[in-house]
Amino acid sequence: MSSPTLKVGIVGLGRLGQRHAINLAQRVPNAEVVAACSPMPAELDWAASTLGITTGYADYDALLAHPGLDAVFLVTPTSLHADQIIAALRAGKHVFCEKPLSLDLADCLKVEAEAARHPQLTIMIGFVRRFDASYHDAQQKIAQGMIGKPYLVRSQTCDQNDPSGAFMRFAPTSGGIFLDCSVHDIDLARWLLGNPVPKRVYASGTNAIHTGLQAFGDVDNGLATVEFSDGSMASFMASRTMAHGHETLTEVFGTGGRLAVGSNPRLNRVEISDAHGVRNECTPDFYARFADAFLIEAQEFTDAALGRRTLSLTLHDATEATRIGLAMTQAMREARPIEF
Ligand code: NAI
Repeated sequence: MSSPTLKVGIVGLGRLGQRHAINLAQRVPNAEVVAACSPMPAELDWAASTLGITTGYADYDALLAHPGLDAVFLVTPTSLHADQIIAALRAGKHVFCEKPLSLDLADCLKVEAEAARHPQLTIMIGFVRRFDASYHDAQQKIAQGMIGKPYLVRSQTCDQNDPSGAFMRFAPTSGGIFLDCSVHDIDLARWLLGNPVPKRVYASGTNAIHTGLQAFGDVDNGLATVEFSDGSMASFMASRTMAHGHETLTEVFGTGGRLAVGSNPRLNRVEISDAHGVRNECTPDFYARFADAFLIEAQEFTDAALGRRTLSLTLHDATEATRIGLAMTQAMREARPIEF
């Protein structure tokens, strides 16, 4: 590619899309946000007034036709991902898309097939934790043999309880707690264990606070165990009801040691000693924990699309994460082990 700058269209300016837009517009040196797309006029107004992105489209196809556009950054509801990716690839655009790739395995495979027809285009699904410095370091240490052969990952994504239950608006479309939250842990487990093939899944869950989730076949706390065909295992917990904050924790057990990332989900290095004891404040949400990683992720996508590096993860990784997440969801809903 000859252009030194990647001309990006940001699609979706909700909770996460605004964060990505700020990064791309202000912190990724070789990216330029040339247009925004959202069906909500207020979001396009935000992009214009906050970031100076004055070209806004309500219609996605109109954005794809924007002159000189190189890439799209999709931060839209998960139900739209597969179709929007395919349309972008057919229009010759590089694609970044938020996780999960899709809630439907057939759609994941359709996206893989379309991507195979456009090998010159970069396509990246945002498994942001791979770009966190601590996870990156842990993966390197495992690859160097520091803990021997890794055989068990225990990983959790636990969100602070939101008493207002605002997240309920995502319940009809999120695919449930395993596809929405654990999909990150699933991707980490595959990565840290060397991409083992799943064999069997067990799962269960409960609604500790947000009983309304039951109507969507969902839970506010879920547990799952995955057995892989090489004998390795992973166990996952996802929660929306933590009292103390957002806590992402991953342990990797190997024949020669154990690595843990995030054992203390502290907000910063300040230690408070007072009448309550000695403590740290906790990261309030996923963005506070992974802000740096979101930036590094956007930089890697931009550099890959500009032909300056290859991506460190594949589209098939995203298909596998959906495949395992779907099996976990089915195992919980049907209260039985699921074989692959
Ligand atoms: P949100 O509901 O806050 O934002 C969705 C945005 O998409 C809104 O701006 C909406 O106007 C826009 N939109 C809806 N239909 C559209 C269309 N047809 N064309 C263009 N834009 C459209 O949702 P949120 O929380 O920002 O999530 C978006 C995606 O990001 C989801 O896939 C979610 O799974 C993912 N996500 C990833 C996280 C991570 O840790 N990597 C964390 C949070 C969300």
